[in-house]
Amino acid sequence: MCGIIGYTGPRPAAPILLDSLRRLEYRGYDSAGIAIIDADGDVATVKNTNKVVDLARQVEAEGTPSGTVGIGHTRWATHGRPSLENAHPHQDCTGRIHVIHNGIVENYRELRAELISRGHEFLSETDTEVVPHLIEDAYRGDLAAAVRSALNRMQGACALVVISADQPDRVVGARMNAPLVVGLGRGEVFVSSDITALIPYTKRIALLGEGEIVTATPDGITVQQLDGTAVEARVVMVDWEAEQAQKNGYPHFLLKEIHEQPDAVRNALRGRIDDLGMVVLPELGVSSERLAEVHEVVLVACGSAWYAAMVAGYAIEHLAKVRCKVEAASEFRYGEALVDEHSLVIAVSQSGETADTLAAVRQAHQAGAQVIAITNVVGSALPLEADGALYMQAGPEISVAGTKTFMTQMVCGLLLALRLGDARGTLDVSEHQRLVAELQGLPDLLSKTLELEPMLVELGQRFAHTHSALYIGRGINFPIAMEGALKLKEISYVHAEGYAAGELKHGPIALLQPDVPVIAIATRSATLPKMVSNVQEVHSRDAPVIALITEGEDPFDAGFATTIPVPGCSEVLSPLINVIPLQLFAYHVAVQRGCDVDQPRNLAKSVTVE
Ligand code: AGP
Repeated sequence: MCGIIGYTGPRPAAPILLDSLRRLEYRGYDSAGIAIIDADGDVATVKNTNKVVDLARQVEAEGTPSGTVGIGHTRWATHGRPSLENAHPHQDCTGRIHVIHNGIVENYRELRAELISRGHEFLSETDTEVVPHLIEDAYRGDLAAAVRSALNRMQGACALVVISADQPDRVVGARMNAPLVVGLGRGEVFVSSDITALIPYTKRIALLGEGEIVTATPDGITVQQLDGTAVEARVVMVDWEAEQAQKNGYPHFLLKEIHEQPDAVRNALRGRIDDLGMVVLPELGVSSERLAEVHEVVLVACGSAWYAAMVAGYAIEHLAKVRCKVEAASEFRYGEALVDEHSLVIAVSQSGETADTLAAVRQAHQAGAQVIAITNVVGSALPLEADGALYMQAGPEISVAGTKTFMTQMVCGLLLALRLGDARGTLDVSEHQRLVAELQGLPDLLSKTLELEPMLVELGQRFAHTHSALYIGRGINFPIAMEGALKLKEISYVHAEGYAAGELKHGPIALLQPDVPVIAIATRSATLPKMVSNVQEVHSRDAPVIALITEGEDPFDAGFATTIPVPGCSEVLSPLINVIPLQLFAYHVAVQRGCDVDQPRNLAKSVTVE
């Protein structure tokens, strides 16, 4: 979950490391630190227990370390509370080897005890600190070899970047079950947990495989496997623009990303619809014959991606008439995983690095299932492990809470549902083409929906002090109720739950009181009359109702609900429109409450630990 960056080249390292850490901060913000090898061959370290902006101020106040080789880290605490001692980089006993790490060294207790018994001194409570000491023990004049030797002793997940005063021209990086990419510039190399940090500097990215170690000097890179075998790195060009990772006048990345959704949908559709108006997904890597034979589809994902997967599951059952199971990846991986060669497993993950989702994919593969990844990040682990990948093409998402990536996960799910319906002959061509045309028109409807924002600002003010909220939806909009509730929890710290509306009377209705708003998704659908009855039940318990309705089709004649009229569309596409007012509501409640919208407490964007 932590953000890591290493640099070697001709330029002063400190400004590059600090700038990159600002871009990586969404991965964790419990502390930040840098280490730089100076002209005398000493390593200067600066750490701060606050955010990167505070680290930058400290660096300025204390004097920027000179030197053109260095590493930087922004932490999401796992082992050891957020403190100066536990902030990275960590060093060996000699102070010559410095390490930053993302992941968990699962056998750190045994390693630490062993190292202490051999006289090593530890300064922190972290699992990471065993790494520089292991490298110190193994160092015989070749840093990469010492890193390999250390990795061979470690279990768990780890991406590392290491510098040593004894080989001051280089950074050594290692990838083992945690993300690490290499940016290739002109006479300079960057090693980072995330492409987002690199896009202002280079778009040439070398992808590392699992268990690979990169040695970077200003002259270039060499890559080895754990046993020392040399390998060729796969180099790709990324099409993300540095500008996409700026706020561009918006007060928060979250609001910018909410407003980027029409364009994100346009991009997600790019290259995927042929001249006849049919969905084509050549990158899928699964033939039509195979899609036609699939007995069941299992979708695995976490958090918002799980809810997007549920929307996809509804669409697949509806359009492709194949049984779908949607499971939280964290449950699937420890369950019976009853999939086989007749199953199609779809793993959904924005980052492509979520540990539970990756573990679920490995389990599905072992059982013989074919796996398709839906992800946003080129070079992440998920598409490397899957049989085929569908990229969300949403561009970089900086805010920790997902919005435009949730939207594009749903778009990819719908494209897959249409493709499956076509391959299985369950969807006639004219209906397929009609839905595709509607999808193509969706960005305009999303823009129209975004125009509702003044209404959501007002509702945000009205409900800023609520302590609890319930969201209800039915069918394909049930996951949207859960996503609306998750957004409110994540960014405004208001307790909220999403329920299938028919379930309300089986328990949650006991929570209703005049200060508990109920947000009901009551747009056009086959079950709208049922939803109207559910809302009536809520109103009878004096809870305030906010209802999303289809414009021009107000189903509530009593006028008791605050209604938000959204553009009409087919029910199967309605989640894409309905989520927007819920995102805006969560955002404006959070702003009213003075919350740190882009970096909510305790969260990190990529959850690379269990
Ligand atoms: C979204 O707002 C969340 N922060 C979170 O639930 C997220 O969707 C989840 O951690 C999964 O991430 P992924 O899509 O990168 O796998």
